[in-house]
Amino acid sequence: MEKSEVLLKIGEKYNPPKGIVERAWIKDYESLYKRSVEDPEGFWGEVAEELYWFKKWDKVLEWNFPYAKWFVGGKTNITYNCLDRHIKKGKGDKIAYIFIDEENREKRISYKDLLSLVNRIANALKDLGIKKGDRISIYMPNTIEAVAVMLACARIGAIHSVVFAGFSVNALNLRIKEAGSRILFTSTYTLRRGKKIDLLSVAKEAVKDAESVERVIVWDRDGEGFKEDEKFLDFYNLIENKSEECEPEEMDAEDPLFILYTSGTTGKPKGVLHTTGGYMVQTYFTAKTVFDLHEDDIFWCTADIGWITGHSYIVYGILANGVTSLIVEGAPDYPDPGRWWSYIEKYKVNVFYTAPTAIRMFMRYGEEWPSKYDLSSLRILGSVGEPINPEAWHWYYKHIGRERCVIVDTWWQTETGAHMITTLPSYPAKPGKAGKPFFGIVAEVVDREGKKVPPNTVGILVIKTPWPSMLRTCWGNPERYEKYWKSIPGNVYNADDLASYDEEGYIMILGRADDVLNVAGHRIGTMEVESALVDHPAVAEAAVIGKPHEVKGEIIKAFVILKKGYEPSEELEKDIKQHVRDTLGPIAVPEEIAFVEKLPKTRSGKIMRRVLKAQELGFEVGDISTLED
Ligand code: WTA
Repeated sequence: MEKSEVLLKIGEKYNPPKGIVERAWIKDYESLYKRSVEDPEGFWGEVAEELYWFKKWDKVLEWNFPYAKWFVGGKTNITYNCLDRHIKKGKGDKIAYIFIDEENREKRISYKDLLSLVNRIANALKDLGIKKGDRISIYMPNTIEAVAVMLACARIGAIHSVVFAGFSVNALNLRIKEAGSRILFTSTYTLRRGKKIDLLSVAKEAVKDAESVERVIVWDRDGEGFKEDEKFLDFYNLIENKSEECEPEEMDAEDPLFILYTSGTTGKPKGVLHTTGGYMVQTYFTAKTVFDLHEDDIFWCTADIGWITGHSYIVYGILANGVTSLIVEGAPDYPDPGRWWSYIEKYKVNVFYTAPTAIRMFMRYGEEWPSKYDLSSLRILGSVGEPINPEAWHWYYKHIGRERCVIVDTWWQTETGAHMITTLPSYPAKPGKAGKPFFGIVAEVVDREGKKVPPNTVGILVIKTPWPSMLRTCWGNPERYEKYWKSIPGNVYNADDLASYDEEGYIMILGRADDVLNVAGHRIGTMEVESALVDHPAVAEAAVIGKPHEVKGEIIKAFVILKKGYEPSEELEKDIKQHVRDTLGPIAVPEEIAFVEKLPKTRSGKIMRRVLKAQELGFEVGDISTLED
């Protein structure tokens, strides 16, 4: 408790530079916020008018707890708003993306050429019999081609399910099967630290027993002569003679756009489903106002398209604003820790969006790295994925922003689709505090009974009213969806994050309230890792906790009981780690493994991770009356 009391005292404020406030889309947060929550339908309706609809909605919101419909009766296509809309205004030759790989090879694509590519892929999919509502899994590196595949799905109304290319066989296999995908897109490899990481072999393994998959489309990056057969098709062959025109499917505002699997407290990930209209409107408007995007801005979000941050702020929200943005493949510090800063200088990036883990890693390398580069183009710095500790905030502010930029700390989730709580460029930031609720968002910090807690007290973050980009369901698991809205009294959405608020309404996020880990900004479920562990032949039982870590926020520590006949050894530890890497992927590998004889369990046999964590960190164990032994 002592530690959090210190944190709760943070109250320092940083005023935005005058020039930034002057050009900001939103200058007066308070009055617009008031209006947005008094009349959310009027507010969001006005925002939606900024975009193109084939047919306007009849009603902005239909709220039938816990089910929301936004822009009811409206017809649109998100790719039309991301591409055609700008091209029709004469901006076809504007660069949509600059892609850079680890060897600094660069590829640029204009809005016009991106649309042509998207349409060719879309036509190829149609020729394969893909229709609106079919699912398509995408297991590709962070590249323009992967974005084009996502957009091609959206063009024809197919539902994409992107799986982060760092996941391994089991994780991919599960996500393909759960979604029931007809097609898998993959690539020969991705680059990481100068090494080619083979994605195709993982894909091949992962589709073996996935009966729904009819075809695997392989993007042969280097044209090394990929051998096609009936099931495995070559991306370029497939799109070669396809038309560059493809009418966008008229999508109902509530037609599904994509599924994105994210970790929860159970062994199986949740397929968060987002629909077309509301997601489009909120990603567009948050990108515009939080990043304060203007016509000539160069934007860079360092996330990967495999996560929600990439979906919303590399792809949809950013393209909807018609700016130029960077897509970067590979490690931030390879070939050297100057890589990112050199790109900011070279491409004159104005708005930069990254995660605290990256900042903390660069802090370790020292400010000599960024100080070699001219970062004067920067105006807005964003943070996402985990709490940014004040020390990292200050470093970011000083050594990247050079005390001339604003920092927007954006809190949101895969489920929320877009920013929910964040600082805006026009009002003061408080290091360590995310900021205030975005327009139309009613957030509160409550106890387990749903009662609002006093200021500066830790509670659970809830959202009290529906918002346009909220998840609509969990694919194949509607009960799980209802749980978000029914686990805390008061008909509120439970974000399952610990938080507090101060007298001025700034909200501070402290971390997850459930058994979900946040390792380097990546969400990982304890049970997923535990399942991978017990899948190893030597492991009888396993429990996993998150242990605080200076750079990564948290690392995974596993407690393992071995089966009879196995002895703890360094070799076995290595082998177990390798097993987790092979089944789930490198991000899920426990940094530490402790071999134990017993695990603390409740009488009903549930592992009490809380007890392990308290022991590990030297805290009071708390109430253990339900402990079996
Ligand atoms: C955490 C990522 C503190 C939080 C967009 C949330 C944050 C989870 C912040 C969602 C932030 C995200 N400050 N914590 N600015 N942003 N989180 O679904 O615990 O990958 O519940 O979405 O990340 O992770 P997800």
